[in-house]
Amino acid sequence: MTSETTDPPADTAALAALVDLATPFAVRTAVALRLPELVRDGHTTTAALARASNADPDALHRLLRHLVSVGLFAEPTPGEHALTPVSRALLDERNALLRSWLDAAGPGLKMDLAYGGMLHAVRTGRSSYGAVHGTDFWSDYRVDEQLRLFFGATMAGFAWQTGPEVAAGYDWSGVSSVLDVGGGTGALLEAVLTAHPHLTGAVLDLPEVRPEAEEFIAGAGLGERAEFLGGSFLEQLPRGYQVLLVSRVLTDWPDEDATRILRRCADAVTEDGRVVVVEVLAGEEHAKNNSSFDLQSLTLLGGRERRPEDFDALAAAAGLVRRDRRDGANGLVVLEYARG
Ligand SMILES: C[S@@+](CC[C@H](N)C(=O)[O-])C[C@H]1O[C@@H](n2cnc3c(N)ncnc32)[C@H](O)[C@@H]1O
Repeated sequence: MTSETTDPPADTAALAALVDLATPFAVRTAVALRLPELVRDGHTTTAALARASNADPDALHRLLRHLVSVGLFAEPTPGEHALTPVSRALLDERNALLRSWLDAAGPGLKMDLAYGGMLHAVRTGRSSYGAVHGTDFWSDYRVDEQLRLFFGATMAGFAWQTGPEVAAGYDWSGVSSVLDVGGGTGALLEAVLTAHPHLTGAVLDLPEVRPEAEEFIAGAGLGERAEFLGGSFLEQLPRGYQVLLVSRVLTDWPDEDATRILRRCADAVTEDGRVVVVEVLAGEEHAKNNSSFDLQSLTLLGGRERRPEDFDALAAAAGLVRRDRRDGANGLVVLEYARG
């Protein structure tokens, strides 16, 4: 008897579900073609959807057949498509960031494709973005404006997880100046400075981020109290700031680089100042389009998920001692370090 005529072993269907690659790409293609919006707006037949999305009618028909089979759309009468609870969730404004990530025509797919090099990442312990795209993520980010703006907007879109609690939960009364290290467009600094009018501050980030950061700072009415400083946190940092915020940066880096960033902070902060590490431990929010945030960190950036005690160990290696720890909502952890 050949293997073709033998019944497959139990759980083969479960295995097939684990390895299916068609569905993740089909959903991303539907998002790029705006199929959920078009169905919602009354373009329900394949012909109407093909016209409105500028797609090949036969290929679109095959895509729709798959999307109906997995429940992204329904087909209440043959040839007529309708939304399902899943496509309604996708269209919900609360999932706007997720939707932009899932757009196959946008940078989210480029980031997700780093998973294609997972074998390289697991063999080497390093990012696989370069193995897939020929350049490491941060180098690509510096030259691909679309990728940079998307990443910055995504991070700023998640600042609600950090800004209000860092602004309210930390004692800013004895502080006059704050540097947001790797602060992106400045959403966290904006939350802190807006809540504490006596503070001045700066965002330090890669020089390429300057246009969007300066636009954001000016738009927030903070042009007089905040500035953007182009540079690298892997190199010497500007001195004289009393608080250095390091928010959602260390997770992007392997231990060696994360320690180097903290050492740069320890060298730059004032004698009695504080290095404040802000992280959002992986949870529901991170997992929306990623079953493992840790594997995403590894493949995309060579970074990793860490526990608060792991940050303490990195800080100790950089000559910093923990003075306080606060746990907030949604996995937020704020770790306050002083020079040892
Ligand atoms: C994950 S984002 C975090 C942004 C922000 N701190 C937050 O909490 O949302 C990482 C930031 O690090 C910046 N970055 C990457 N490499 C850098 C470097 N060598 N020097 C300074 N900033 C860098 C990126 O531009 C990005 O803004």
